[in-house]
Amino acid sequence: MPRVSAAFFAIGVLYVLCGMLWGMHMGEANDFTMAPAHAHLNLLGWVTMGLYGTFYALTRATMSARLAWINFVVSALGVLVMIPSLALYLGGGNDAKYIPPLIAGEVLTAAGMVIFGVSVARELFRSRV
Ligand code: HEM
Repeated sequence: MPRVSAAFFAIGVLYVLCGMLWGMHMGEANDFTMAPAHAHLNLLGWVTMGLYGTFYALTRATMSARLAWINFVVSALGVLVMIPSLALYLGGGNDAKYIPPLIAGEVLTAAGMVIFGVSVARELFRSRV
């Protein structure tokens, strides 16, 4: 497995452990205000990272490692900015002051997917002999 795939899985484990503890806390407190932030942390931080890591492991011979690492940094940062902003927004009574950092995190997260799309396109259209 290339190091970038291991990095995707490593950050995914960190994010999902936070998400699981958060979910357990929500259940114990019987307060589900943060459910959308918990869900997005787990789906973007674990499922999406795992899919990125798996793709790069499957294409290790033909991928661009540079593009894969850019994908990693942008996507990991996106979750790190988006989820706390979303939590502050939800916990702060949907206060509009949390929207700009939330949008910054969303843009990073979407940019990570666009970069991944470029990697997918490179694989789809590369010449095969
Ligand atoms: C120890 C592990 C986990 C615990 C204790 C946990 C706990 C919870 C709780 C208490 C809720 C709120 C339910 C409600 O609103 O009635 C929830 C919602 C949710 N969880 Fe988790 N969860 C865990 C792991 C995961 C994972 C791994 C994922 C996805 C990969 C996930 C995705 C979701 C989704 C999509 C929702 C619905 C959110 C919404 O309705 O806004 N959870 N979880």
